[in-house]
Amino acid sequence: MNQKNISKPRILTGDRPTGPLHVGHYIGTLANRVKLQDEYDCFIIMADLHTLTTNPSKEKTIGINDRVRGLVLDYLSVGLDPEKCTFYQQSRVPEVAYLSLIFSMLVTVPRAQRIPTLKDVLRDLKIEKPSLGLLTYPVLQAADILMVKANLVPVGKDQESHVEITREIATDFNRMYGEIFPVPKALIGDNGTLIGTDGQAKMSKSIGNCIYLSDSEDVVNQKVKTMYTDPTRIRPTDPGHVEGNPVFIYHDAFNDNKEEVADLKARYINGQVGDVEVKTKLALAMNRFLAPIRDRRAKYEGKTDLINQIIDDGSQKTRLEAQKTLSEVLSAMGLQK
Ligand code: TRP
Repeated sequence: MNQKNISKPRILTGDRPTGPLHVGHYIGTLANRVKLQDEYDCFIIMADLHTLTTNPSKEKTIGINDRVRGLVLDYLSVGLDPEKCTFYQQSRVPEVAYLSLIFSMLVTVPRAQRIPTLKDVLRDLKIEKPSLGLLTYPVLQAADILMVKANLVPVGKDQESHVEITREIATDFNRMYGEIFPVPKALIGDNGTLIGTDGQAKMSKSIGNCIYLSDSEDVVNQKVKTMYTDPTRIRPTDPGHVEGNPVFIYHDAFNDNKEEVADLKARYINGQVGDVEVKTKLALAMNRFLAPIRDRRAKYEGKTDLINQIIDDGSQKTRLEAQKTLSEVLSAMGLQK
């Protein structure tokens, strides 16, 4: 069969531009995206409108474009390739708001209120009275996904319920008005979430327990030096705990020298190694892991015009897809010839 005539299945995934990406993002989703970009037609959304759902203040909105450029730089640094992936800024595809409005008519208020992420956000951010925009967050996400007719949505476990409601919306729309949308599948990463350097909670910008992809060698050394480790171990001769110890979780995740990791673990358990050696070797391993990421970043860093161009091109391409889909939707509904 002629490969050229077979179009690749399409992926949509992405992030809200809330800040720089960290090594937890790498383990959780970025590594997977780099693999998938060869087999799939990848769209990567930088979901800036979604950031307004919890805080629409001007202090936040004013920095959005900078944070979007920061995301693109992070993507390029891990090896996502603009030749293979379409990077786009959500707000530059205004058709998504129209589609979201139409979809909002197909979702009942109780259904939206039942989405588990809503409860989580209200609790975590201590929001007493959610905006309508926050309630319809998953409907906007459904519009993102269906607008480009994505087949597969690689996301973390926390986003599963959003893909589920997207599937319901696609199915209901198709039944009511005609077959327009593929019913997309979620691809849930199985790597879980990475514990932060404090050993207390998952890596998260708001807690300040992150190692960023953009951290320098010195910063990484410093962060590793002050990492939380086995608190029951006072002297290097005390037998230590490897299980659940963030220092060893990182060794497992990032140290490419598996023999060294096995040796350190054995000596740690037997009280034959000091924390300084374990952490020094971890810092070296983290910096080895980050070296190619830093090299790629250096190629694009400061090239604002190039980054802007990538965002312009991706957003324009996505907008054409969006216009086509919206037009199909409106005709199927009888709202447009
Ligand atoms: N809600 C996603 C997150 O917070 C970001 C996102 C918005 C998204 N639209 C999307 C992810 C469409 C996948 C597909 O991580």
